[in-house]
Amino acid sequence: MVAEETQSSPSIGLNDAYSVKTPEDNRKLYAKWAATYESEFVDKAKYRYPRAIAEVFNDEVLVEDVANVVDVGTGTGLTGMYLTALRPTLTVDGIDISPEMLDQARGKRRQDGQLVYRLLLERDLTHEVLSINAPYDALISSGTFTHGHLGPEAIDNLIPLVRQGGWIVIGVNNEHFVARGFEDKLKELVTEAIISDLRVKRINVYEEGSDHRGDQARVLIFKRK
Ligand SMILES: C[S@@+](CC[C@H](N)C(=O)[O-])C[C@H]1O[C@@H](n2cnc3c(N)ncnc32)[C@H](O)[C@@H]1O
Repeated sequence: MVAEETQSSPSIGLNDAYSVKTPEDNRKLYAKWAATYESEFVDKAKYRYPRAIAEVFNDEVLVEDVANVVDVGTGTGLTGMYLTALRPTLTVDGIDISPEMLDQARGKRRQDGQLVYRLLLERDLTHEVLSINAPYDALISSGTFTHGHLGPEAIDNLIPLVRQGGWIVIGVNNEHFVARGFEDKLKELVTEAIISDLRVKRINVYEEGSDHRGDQARVLIFKRK
């Protein structure tokens, strides 16, 4: 599934991303990876996750419900870029642990030339998260609920970022979903009447022709009650 990497080929890839364990590991990994994340990983691996999440958001979330969105695990800003291509009037903020990834996102522009992100915040999403612009109408996330990154418990930190009745659309790596018990976490949140309108979709993470074609993610779509 994952390309072999040798010492003579020090490029960063999925092996490295799936080997991290702590927020500090993530900070270090993405500091090294930020400059080449799109050219060496997204483009070469044909990674379609940010675009696919933006499309699910656009299909599932009512246009009239949402004027502002927070993109958590912003990375280099591809999710915001695709989302604003579909919904040009949205205001989008981003939150990520890596200042180097956020620096890449800072330069992203919409199709009309405006910046994709209004505000970019460096925060660790394994803890309670503060944003001066919260609560948002909606939250979106691509590629950040995966091995060694965010587990189901981080959902508790995200819910307060969204207003009551607001939407949450989160991609979760398929194996991580099963291994870390996301289903039980979601059942608990529904039972405790913290979330409602839950549905789960599946998307392909990579385009046809990618070595990783077949890898899927679940997309959790729900509302804060
Ligand atoms: C695989 S990248 C995905 C980036 C982007 N959403 C995309 O799909 O291209 C994962 C991102 O999660 C961020 N991240 C990892 N752990 C985090 C944490 N504890 N708090 C906030 N962001 C974190 C990383 O810095 C990185 O930008």
